[in-house]
Amino acid sequence: MTADELIERIDAASAEFTGAIAPLVDEQAIRATQAQFLGKKGRLSALMRDLAALPPPERPRVGEAMNRVKQAIETDWHTFEALAIPKDPPARDMQDTFYVSDEIVLRPHTSPVQIRTMQAHQPPIRIIAPGQVYRRDDDPTHSPMFTQIEGLAVDVDIKFSDLKGTLEHYVRRFFGKSLAIRFRPSYFPFVEPGAEVDMQCSFCGGSGCRICKHTGWVEIGGAGIVDPEVFAHCKIDPEKYSGFAFGMGLERMAMLRHGVNDIKFYYEGDLRFLEQF
Ligand code: DAH
Repeated sequence: MTADELIERIDAASAEFTGAIAPLVDEQAIRATQAQFLGKKGRLSALMRDLAALPPPERPRVGEAMNRVKQAIETDWHTFEALAIPKDPPARDMQDTFYVSDEIVLRPHTSPVQIRTMQAHQPPIRIIAPGQVYRRDDDPTHSPMFTQIEGLAVDVDIKFSDLKGTLEHYVRRFFGKSLAIRFRPSYFPFVEPGAEVDMQCSFCGGSGCRICKHTGWVEIGGAGIVDPEVFAHCKIDPEKYSGFAFGMGLERMAMLRHGVNDIKFYYEGDLRFLEQF
């Protein structure tokens, strides 16, 4: 087999894999499908043996195609479409997404977990979902890979005040003092109304310091009331149910709590840093 033929087969297997995994909501079924394509006895491993038979200079090109498939973690549909994020570039640029292929992305946020949950379960729903996310972003407070935590509650009669109470409670428990939170109207396609959430700076208590850039407030995440369009994608009746959702950066919380000024400290594995906690 030539390198081009092999790449064609890998791309075909990749398309089939994407198609097979997209409608699945059950963890066991997802794992079984992953094994069928990516496992030791899976389709990709079989193609890997063909790769070994190619002349060495041809191998890197094929290896690259192989890795594209292996690293696929989330579909475009769950990440954007079902969250009412349209296909036009400005809306998606908001997320600085890494694309693996046209249909597969490294998820730029944990919000697709909302979709997977609502497809698998009817309300009442209450989840808290931490996970790795990826974005084209890199400076002292941003890393191309970081951890988000997603919250979702769907039930009869869920209101904005429930969201506010939940986040206030969280801030009090995590920072150990009662810091005010505030909502600034903002736009996220999957919530209406949507807001950016700030909390009073945990360092200065709101009087203004370097950490909060002398505003007294620090941003902790996005939140809002689930848009009926999202419910429609998940076959949940928007006349009967309502919900709130939020997403926060986990490292950012830890940075604020422990006074860490560079997010990269969390990934370097330097024991002098880690042993402080
Ligand atoms: N997914 C958004 C982001 O990463 C954060 C977010 C905003 C999550 C609003 C939510 C939400 O659940 O309701 O930028």
